Amino acid sequence: MRILVNGIDLIRLLKEISLKTKIKSYIVGGVVRDFLLGVKNLDIDVVVEGDGIEFAYILLSYLKGDIVVYEAFRTATLSYHNFSIDIISARKEYYECPAALPTIEFSNIYDDMARRDFTINALAYDVMEGKILDYFNGLEDLKKGVIRVLHSKSFIDDPTRIFRAIRYATRYSFEIEEKTHNLMKESIENIRLLSADRIRNELLLVLKEDKAKEMIEKIISYGIDKVIFDEITLNTQNLDTVYTNIEVELYRFLVLFYYLKEKDINEIEKKLRINKIYFKALKDLFFLREQLNCQNKNIRKIRETIDKTKEEVLRAIEVMEGEKAEKIIKGKLTVRGKDIKNLGLPPSPLYGELLDKVFEAKINGIITTGEEEIEFLKRLIEKLKKGE
Ligand code: CTP
Repeated sequence: MRILVNGIDLIRLLKEISLKTKIKSYIVGGVVRDFLLGVKNLDIDVVVEGDGIEFAYILLSYLKGDIVVYEAFRTATLSYHNFSIDIISARKEYYECPAALPTIEFSNIYDDMARRDFTINALAYDVMEGKILDYFNGLEDLKKGVIRVLHSKSFIDDPTRIFRAIRYATRYSFEIEEKTHNLMKESIENIRLLSADRIRNELLLVLKEDKAKEMIEKIISYGIDKVIFDEITLNTQNLDTVYTNIEVELYRFLVLFYYLKEKDINEIEKKLRINKIYFKALKDLFFLREQLNCQNKNIRKIRETIDKTKEEVLRAIEVMEGEKAEKIIKGKLTVRGKDIKNLGLPPSPLYGELLDKVFEAKINGIITTGEEEIEFLKRLIEKLKKGE
């Protein structure tokens, strides 16, 4: 068994396996780019000129990790401590229809680099030779800070690369090279051809980034939002606010769609095929936002929504509404029906009414802590018993 502490150990091990099996291996893509830029990246892509799954199992025999294999493309992902190592069989790709997934043919490292999006991502480190293979001048572009496609059909083949160009240009403060920029702008309409899953995936990757706000602003300035959605207006305000212990993509997703109308929820679901959690979060967000501006508040439903909704919904409302939101969010109760039962009241519809009263007391600032909620409940129940 081997213990890998860093990338150098991994390179040594790959070299050893390559020598033994005669299957050539290369470290490629993002991790090479980020290593050269001095940016930490624990997602390692390895291309082998041979069967990726076979190579991955040999690697696994040296390491104590987990493996997931993908038969169709003969690739495998190995998880080892903080590393995620994708082992890919070198391949050539043919795009038969724009924006659809390509057909593949197993091939060599050159073809595998030639199928890639940008020159800075088409660098490979040859572990046997100990040198970087740079077929498309990626090193120079990396030095100059330039995003450049390898060929003029790149964005037509795969319009997700439009989002990727924006992500890399913003993340590293790089320029999109002029010809690439023109090709990119010409292909924006082709985003319509992408499946909902692929568009959602790209949007969520953007929302995960530190500079998500800037990226979304660029997406809007290129009119990409108008290609994806019919009438929905995206919000960029507060997209850069950071909270810990919440799912940043979901939180930013809610901030992004903060001003949505009721009918937009179905459109977002259709255009992005969001999962049930995202769908429910959007509905809760819409309901709570509407209630904030409503004179006759539905206390029961607000209480129940706040109780069950995701933390990200509350954080989104808080960041967008400030003190106004605080007022209802601070109503979140710790007392439950079982606490009322423990205080000697048999289950009945009265439970809901009592909890509503505690909730109101909380949003009005009469009580604040969990203990005060119980004390308040006790008083309410005593009054009830006395028939007041
Ligand atoms: N790639 C591509 N076209 C795409 C997606 C990916 O050519 N539409 C290639 C790129 O060479 C990229 C590699 O596949 O480097 C791995 O993709 P991914 O993991 O998405 O990107 P990373 O380069 O690892 O970058 P990031 O830091 O954004 O994850």
